[in-house]
Amino acid sequence: MSFKNILVFSSCSLVLLGACKQAKTVVATTPPTTTAATSKENQGFYQFLNDDPAASPFVAKKAPVFAQNGMATSAHPEASKVGVAILKMGGNAIDAAVATQFALAVVHPSAGNIGGGGFLVFRDKTGKAYTLDYREKAPALASRNMYLDEKGEVKPGQPSWNGHLASGTPGSVDGLVLAHKRFGKLSWKQVLQPAIDLAENGVSLTAKEALGLNRIKPDLLKYNPNAQHRYFMKEDGSEWKEGDVFVQKDLANTLRKIQAEGRKGFYEGEIAQKLLTEIKRGGGIITQKDLDDYHAVWREPVVDSYKGLRVITMPPPSSGGIALMQLLKFVEKYPLQKWGWHSDSTTQVMIEAERRVYADRAKWLGDPDFVKIPQKELLSKAYLEQRWQDFSFSMASDSKKIAGGAIPGYESFETTHSSFVDKDGNAVAITTTLNNSYGSKVVVDGAGFLMNDEMDDFSIKPGHPNSYGLIGNEANAIAPNKRMLSSMTPTIVEKDKKLYMVLGTPGGSTIITSVFQVFLNVVEHQMGMQQAVDAFRFHHQWLPDRTTYETGGFTPQTIQKLTERGYKMDMQKNTIGRMDCILVHPDGKIEGGADVRADDTAVGY
Ligand code: DON
Repeated sequence: MSFKNILVFSSCSLVLLGACKQAKTVVATTPPTTTAATSKENQGFYQFLNDDPAASPFVAKKAPVFAQNGMATSAHPEASKVGVAILKMGGNAIDAAVATQFALAVVHPSAGNIGGGGFLVFRDKTGKAYTLDYREKAPALASRNMYLDEKGEVKPGQPSWNGHLASGTPGSVDGLVLAHKRFGKLSWKQVLQPAIDLAENGVSLTAKEALGLNRIKPDLLKYNPNAQHRYFMKEDGSEWKEGDVFVQKDLANTLRKIQAEGRKGFYEGEIAQKLLTEIKRGGGIITQKDLDDYHAVWREPVVDSYKGLRVITMPPPSSGGIALMQLLKFVEKYPLQKWGWHSDSTTQVMIEAERRVYADRAKWLGDPDFVKIPQKELLSKAYLEQRWQDFSFSMASDSKKIAGGAIPGYESFETTHSSFVDKDGNAVAITTTLNNSYGSKVVVDGAGFLMNDEMDDFSIKPGHPNSYGLIGNEANAIAPNKRMLSSMTPTIVEKDKKLYMVLGTPGGSTIITSVFQVFLNVVEHQMGMQQAVDAFRFHHQWLPDRTTYETGGFTPQTIQKLTERGYKMDMQKNTIGRMDCILVHPDGKIEGGADVRADDTAVGY
């Protein structure tokens, strides 16, 4: 597939550029269009696919958004609008990020949260880099084999990802408080207010949000059988529809508490009590001591380079930063641009890099407060060269020889990423999650928010795949107060000492490979950010030994060539990732890239 036809976007860009010169808010107005008819069965979550492999490199076409002063990209139009409203009030990128996170907890409850955790990467206008880890922690009463029966088998019913025992101690509120205290310009009250307004007055549901809520209803009933309130369901029992106004009064009260008392408003007093009562009712193990002991941590960012670009990304307990840098270093020596986007050679070296990197992830990575991670070695030239020694263009490597084991597949679930740039050039990449869609499905009764199911990101038994098919062992075993390994990869890239890109996505195990691809789409294949985000994606994670790709992602010729070399190419109907990114062009123009695969929206001014 050639990449030449992407230039069709330039005319849209010019129109939008004209608008942004007047410093007005700019939102993409062109609805995405697929290049092939979308079949009925494809209408739904992430079913937005171009079925014609040769037609275009994009899932669908969406006009890029350009701005001069600042940009917010996130999974929901209302949340992105909040981000830009905060920037326009004089807030900086951190203020916008914090306000948007709280807004996402209201308008995008499958992933936006106060009952989960996340990671934040911040590059200030001078180039100083910071990363904040507000990942959940295993409660103190957690133990290595807590999800296993007497025979050492994983208990039925997926207790590590459904119900009250699945939750780690939430970190989101503490993390956002900490980020705002250190770097925010506006008041805490100001950054909380938009989310409170959205919860109090309601938000008009998008088709996708309505569908998500309808789909989750049986689980909500199952995991909240005794709740006094029927959260996330319509009072009259009917299905949600696009345009319905979704009001969350209890969540508004919870957010007001957080607004009035900061950290205390969540980890102590009335809301904490409600959380603990809920957890206890369902047999969970989080205690007041866990809440008291929870503290987000500023960590040393992973900073490395790709062809002279400075990449700032998330260190452990996310695997994302180290994995992304390993991937980039493996492919750096190859002429990807010359070979072309999604050509057989380009794809082959990317797959082989992915195979080796995910094997390392399983072996070496975990919470740095508990395990010693050989970060320097993993990123060293000598180590990566030695790992590449058995690579051959003639035949696929064998995952079983790279390391042992065989596992079933993974599905696509929910997390959410947003990116921000302010008028001074400060930038934030922030990824947050409840883990699976709507987390543990447990709603804190009386407080109106969902709890996470992050315990499933631990390796609950050596070699047992988690919900994303990822396996692990010792380094990521459960231990009291330990943070579970993540794949979230919020990343900021600098070129010639200036801000260049802000990147990130949800997608479980596919997060790392999605960020890798969008990075290369811009740097090697000269796409704009919206194009880079909308281009088809593929994924390999060592085990299972197969490459999944979005319908339409490769030409039949490329598939044939790769299959002949022993690659198992597995086309899937679901899309991969949901990227919300920003690119700063050489002339200072800021381009938002908000994924065409869902409701994601870039708003600039
Ligand atoms: O931290 C992680 O890697 C996972 N809990 C992320 C989950 C996720 O991305 C789900 N979204 N699609």
